[in-house]
Amino acid sequence: MPEQIRVLVVEDVPQVAQYIRGLLNSQETIRLLDVVADGSLVADMVREQKPTVLIVDALLQGSVKGGALIRSLRDANVQVPLIVLTVPQHPILPSPDTGVSAVLSMPFTGFDLISKIHAVAAESAAASSMPVRVIAVYAPKGGVGRTTLAYNLAVAMHRGGAHPVLVDGSLQFADVRTLLKAPADVPSLLHLPTDKVVVSDLHDVMWRDSSGIDVLLAPPRVEMAEMVNAQDLAKTIALLRMVYNVVVVDTASVINDATLAFLDAADFILDVLTYDATTIHNTLAMAAAFRSIGYPDEKIRYLVNRADSLGGLDSAAVAGMLGRTPEHRVCSGGALVVKANNAGKPFVTTDPDSDISHDVIRTARELLALPLPARQGHR
Ligand SMILES: Nc1ncnc2c1ncn2[C@@H]1O[C@H](COP(=O)(O)OP(=O)(O)O)[C@@H](O)[C@H]1O
Ligand SMILES: [Mg+2]
Repeated sequence: MPEQIRVLVVEDVPQVAQYIRGLLNSQETIRLLDVVADGSLVADMVREQKPTVLIVDALLQGSVKGGALIRSLRDANVQVPLIVLTVPQHPILPSPDTGVSAVLSMPFTGFDLISKIHAVAAESAAASSMPVRVIAVYAPKGGVGRTTLAYNLAVAMHRGGAHPVLVDGSLQFADVRTLLKAPADVPSLLHLPTDKVVVSDLHDVMWRDSSGIDVLLAPPRVEMAEMVNAQDLAKTIALLRMVYNVVVVDTASVINDATLAFLDAADFILDVLTYDATTIHNTLAMAAAFRSIGYPDEKIRYLVNRADSLGGLDSAAVAGMLGRTPEHRVCSGGALVVKANNAGKPFVTTDPDSDISHDVIRTARELLALPLPARQGHR
């Protein structure tokens, strides 16, 4: 028999609780763990009973109200898909930002409830069985769009149901810290213990961005980059692999031990270029360096940013020089990119219907669908 879907329901209206019990108890594929009326018990029950799906009434009363419970589940990063019950007068939309996977408006039928439970359980099973991947967003030249793309790709992956973490690997200038306007006192990867880092240490140093993604920031001052040890970075990435299913690293251009630690640890290097001669020159030089390090060709994925910009080299000439056609392309976003970056917001959510957002969302999907290359290319 296939594994049952374990459902925990938080409902304080006796008639609704009774209705749900009746519907779920007759289902072979679903096991109703409990119906609780007190929101303050939910966090512990989730930990102990490990439900596959949570159902919460948004209008829950008592010491912990429905809205507060939903927010606290999201903030605690509970990796259990959440179905919210509401009434038409109090509409709620499903969104990764609020941690709500699906919404049922009362009154609902047994069919509505059961099919929603199956749908969110299947979605979450697909996301959790995805093999973990580390993607280093790299370019041998500054200003080509690494930080902008790394952030927006991570947010697009999060919205697509993955569980990404963004690592600020531009250690000297902390590009991600600057972009997200994280204050200087927010911890950085320097705050991880140097010896024996364990998974629980990660939680203390993560910055939860307003987009909903977790970010591991670089230190706030240039000279502090010196204090980061490349071996610790490799350990940190290995730990992040245990907690997240995608690790996106925004790297610096300079090739030093820290950058190499990130590139070595990556399953894919997303090598960003633009159609201008100096960028292409440096990209070709790095392609030769990657080959001599022993990285397999499949580890490198080329992304042309501002691919529609006029006055640059043409794509056929670039493909000729690289010996392959760049796998990904993102168009120019013009002012909307500058505006979103200045506000520290991801354009994939502020302007989801723009061409550049479509390109980034497609690229995120492409990167998540790639088969993982063999890891023997690592030094
Ligand atoms: N596709 C794009 N369209 C328009 N502007 C872009 C695009 N990609 C990047 N930019 C802009 O280019 C500048 C440099 O981007 P950034 O992400 O900081 O590059 P890097 O991290 O490679 O130095 C930023 O001002 C950003 O707003
Ligand atoms: Mg940058």
